[in-house]
Amino acid sequence: MEKEISGGGRTSNAKLLAWVREIASLCVPERVYWCDGSREEYDRLCDAMVEAGTFIRLSPKKRPRSFLARSHPSDVARVEERTYICSGRKDDAGPTNNWMAPAEMKTRLRGLFSGSMRRRTMYVIPFSMGPLGSPISHVGVQITDSPYVVVNMHIMTRVGEKVLEVLGDGPFVACLHSVGAPLEPGQRDDPWPCEPDIANKFITHFPETREIWSYGSGYGGNALLGKKCLALRIGSVLARDEGWLAEHMLILGISRPEGKKIYIAAAFPSACGKTNLAMIVPPAGFEGWRTSTVGDDIAWLKPGPDGMLRAINPEAGFFGVAPGTSYESNPVAMDTLKENCIFTNVALTDDGDVWWEGMGPAPKHAIDWQGKDWMPEMKTPAAHPNSRFTAPAAQCPTIDPAWENPQGVPISAFVFGGRLSKTFPLVYESLNWRHGVFMAATMGSEATAAAIGQAAIRRDPFAMLPFAGYHMADYWKHWLGMEPKGLLLPRIFRVNWFRKNENGKFIWPGYGQNMRVVSWIVDRVAGRAGATEIPLGLVPRYEDLNWKGMDFPREKFLDLVDVPREGILSEAEDIKAYFTRFGDRLPRELEGEREELVRRAGGIPES
Ligand code: GTP
Ligand code: SPV
Ligand code: MN
Repeated sequence: MEKEISGGGRTSNAKLLAWVREIASLCVPERVYWCDGSREEYDRLCDAMVEAGTFIRLSPKKRPRSFLARSHPSDVARVEERTYICSGRKDDAGPTNNWMAPAEMKTRLRGLFSGSMRRRTMYVIPFSMGPLGSPISHVGVQITDSPYVVVNMHIMTRVGEKVLEVLGDGPFVACLHSVGAPLEPGQRDDPWPCEPDIANKFITHFPETREIWSYGSGYGGNALLGKKCLALRIGSVLARDEGWLAEHMLILGISRPEGKKIYIAAAFPSACGKTNLAMIVPPAGFEGWRTSTVGDDIAWLKPGPDGMLRAINPEAGFFGVAPGTSYESNPVAMDTLKENCIFTNVALTDDGDVWWEGMGPAPKHAIDWQGKDWMPEMKTPAAHPNSRFTAPAAQCPTIDPAWENPQGVPISAFVFGGRLSKTFPLVYESLNWRHGVFMAATMGSEATAAAIGQAAIRRDPFAMLPFAGYHMADYWKHWLGMEPKGLLLPRIFRVNWFRKNENGKFIWPGYGQNMRVVSWIVDRVAGRAGATEIPLGLVPRYEDLNWKGMDFPREKFLDLVDVPREGILSEAEDIKAYFTRFGDRLPRELEGEREELVRRAGGIPES
């Protein structure tokens, strides 16, 4: 069967050519198009999507070269319950991942993909995660039938001809995607085609063969396969096998007045403030301090020749949560969003601009994310809570000069944080590497604060619960295994911006003021700041933080770092139950750390 083939597919990579042929005969698209990654290609696809109703062109005055997309209301977020790690053995996926045998999954999916691209274009997108040709980067090739995915991949990754040159005859991660909505002859297309039945959506990973097959969704991490699927799930497997780290982390550069610049990497669960911290601006009281952004979601770290872990941001753009983003909470993001952006599921104002909850005063009238008239008195949100912007990283005003350095940037500290309304201090430092791994492995975040008694904690180890491509306990072992390599390992910290008082209000103002915590971390790394030991680890004393430009009383600070022993002991009990889920694979060192914690809190550990 001969297909119309167009675009810039100049490659002699036999494996790639064979794969594209195989998928074309499975999915039966009308034509095959190889993406060249050019601006002209981007503009052409955007224009075609405006024509088709998928995109609304925003006001060229207010938001130049920017578009709004509204997804199908059933397709608004990642679907963790339909995400699978299809390793050969179930045990290798571990208790935190969904699993199906690879052959069984492929059979099931071949059925779904069969003819799934009828009357659509099959796009072939060669992309690089990380700067082209960096020793830390990896090449993927995504096949998709969604032009929305193509233009988002243009922003989020490096796409096109130049990637094929770098790839040569080498290996690539094969990423297959279909929205799962073939067209019948004469059938009108939907502005957001997708498979509406959740039971037919699949986001699947084959770690042994380094393949990704995603069916049925056009949204975010389900469909932009370079991001969570490649850079984290397959990435974590590559990292385990090759001795590096693939993490759900932002990367931030910081320098003090006349001081050396250092970089930190921080892991927070989804929607817990990575983008905010990645773009933090030093507040009053931090004159002469500078911050810069390398990445806001993913970090790949490899040991460098100097023994330090060197990090790259494998992405080229930000796919950030829109609601809550304002000139007050994140001015750098607001400036990044001025032009050349794609907005998904935000509200459209009458003057052709975008709006979302938390951006500022509500417009008197707007069109909500579902295309309906909206007025501020209405109880429904104008923008979907998980509405997002796609923005080129290069136009971020604080982008770090070294953000595309193929050697990466050296990391001096790891920071882990979740949403915890009690028990956990504003910040604390680990006693050593192993203790730090324990702190990250047991990290939790609250779903919703329970009205009475203890809030339910969802453990989100390393903020990687939905993203580790193999057994979580083996992932911890991999982290523990970094220590004996003789590297200059980063210090490990935990932070918590979300502690609440008895009235349920956040005690800590957060956002820009988090710089006070960041600067303490920088000072600890430089050996310039004091700390005191509590059972959890090392916390700053009031006088160890810079309070210049802020009126924050000592008593309130003590509320933020005070941790009752009973709280620690009940946390340790809870961790014990959590650890049993991992059976024999739990590294002994981590149960050892748990017992040490009990001992430090004055309890008697029983293992
Ligand atoms: P993903 O892109 O989903 O991985 O998430 P992210 O970690 O980048 O999330 P994002 O930065 O969009 O998180 C935004 C959420 O964190 C919003 O609900 C903010 O209100 C909240 N947030 C960020 N920083 C702070 C802070 O310092 N204090 C408080 N209280 N909330 C914060
Ligand atoms: C996350 O959920 O952590 C994200 C958004 O960064 S998505 O790319 O949709 O996974
Ligand atoms: Mn994320």
